[in-house]
Amino acid sequence: MDTRLKTSPDPRVSSLLSVRGLSKSFDGVRAAEGLTFDVQPGVTTALIGPNGSGKTTLFNLLTGVLRPDSGSILLRHNSSTHELTRLPAHRIASLGIARTFQNIRLFPQISVLDNLLLGTPYERGDGFWSGLLQTGAMRSGERRNTAKAMALLDKVGMADKAGELAMNLSHGQRRLVELARALATDADLYLLDEPTAGVFPETRQIIMNIIRELDAQNKAVLFIEHNMDVVMGMSERIIVLDHGVKIADGKPEEVANDAKVVEAYLGRRRVRAAG
Ligand SMILES: Nc1ncnc2c1ncn2[C@@H]1O[C@H](COP(=O)(O)OP(=O)(O)OP(=O)(O)O)[C@@H](O)[C@H]1O
Ligand SMILES: [Mg+2]
Repeated sequence: MDTRLKTSPDPRVSSLLSVRGLSKSFDGVRAAEGLTFDVQPGVTTALIGPNGSGKTTLFNLLTGVLRPDSGSILLRHNSSTHELTRLPAHRIASLGIARTFQNIRLFPQISVLDNLLLGTPYERGDGFWSGLLQTGAMRSGERRNTAKAMALLDKVGMADKAGELAMNLSHGQRRLVELARALATDADLYLLDEPTAGVFPETRQIIMNIIRELDAQNKAVLFIEHNMDVVMGMSERIIVLDHGVKIADGKPEEVANDAKVVEAYLGRRRVRAAG
C-alpha cells in the first residue's frame, strides 16, 4: 500500500514527526488526550510524567501497537510523508521508527546475536530466514549483517555474549541488547521506553553515551525516563504528560520550574503519602 500523502505541500512535513490531536481512552480512562507536538532530527527529547500518565500509551500509538480514537501522526521518511494511524506496526517500523520496551522484549531462547539479526533489515533473498534454511556457506549479505550486529554488540560492551542465549543475561545486559537491536534498524526516530530503568550506573553510562551518539548523528530520540538526573543531563527538550494531557513542553530549565509540572509530581506524592 502506498501511504504517501498526495496532498499539496504542508508546512508540517518539515518535521520528522508531527502528532496532531492524538487521543486514546481505555474504558473511560483517558490515556492520551489531544496530544499535539512535533519531533525534529537531532533534538533529544525526554518524555516524562507520573506513573499512568500515558507515556507508554503514546509510544504504542506511534508504533501502531494501538489505534488512536482520533488524531493524526505524520512521519517523514525518504522525502515522503506518511500517515501512520492506519498502518500496521511492521510497516511503521520499516518507515524508520525503532523502539525499546519498558518490559524488555527479547527472544529468550535464541542467541544474543540472533536477536539482533532478527531486527536487521535485509535485502530480498538475503535474510536471516533464508540463511537459516540454507545449510552450508553464509551468503555475503548475511555476513555483512553479522559483522554489523557484532559491531553493535561491541559498541554496547556485549560482544563476548553474542553466542549466549538471551534468557541467560542479566537485566542490564538485556537492556543493552535491546538497545543494540534498535540501533541495527538504522532508524531515524528512536523511541526508548525507560532505557536505563533498573540498571547499574556503569550500564546507565553506556546507554546515555549511545543516546548522545544518536543525537550527534542527527537522529531523533524520544526517551521515557523517571530518573531526573538522566532527564536533565540528556535532554534538549522535555515533554510532560499528566493524565494523558501534555502539560508542558520546552527546554529542561523551563519545564523544571513549571508550576503545573511541580504540581503533577507533588500532587501524586501527596496522594501516595496519604494512601
Ligand atoms: N492496553 C490497555 N488497556 C487498558 N488500559 C490501559 C492499557 N494501556 C494503558 N492503559 C491505562 O492507560 C493509562 C496510561 O498508562 P501508560 O502505561 O501509558 O502510563 P505510563 O505513563 O507509561 O506509566 P508508567 O510510568 O507507570 O510506565 C493507565 O491508566 C493505564 O492503566
Ligand atoms: Mg510506561
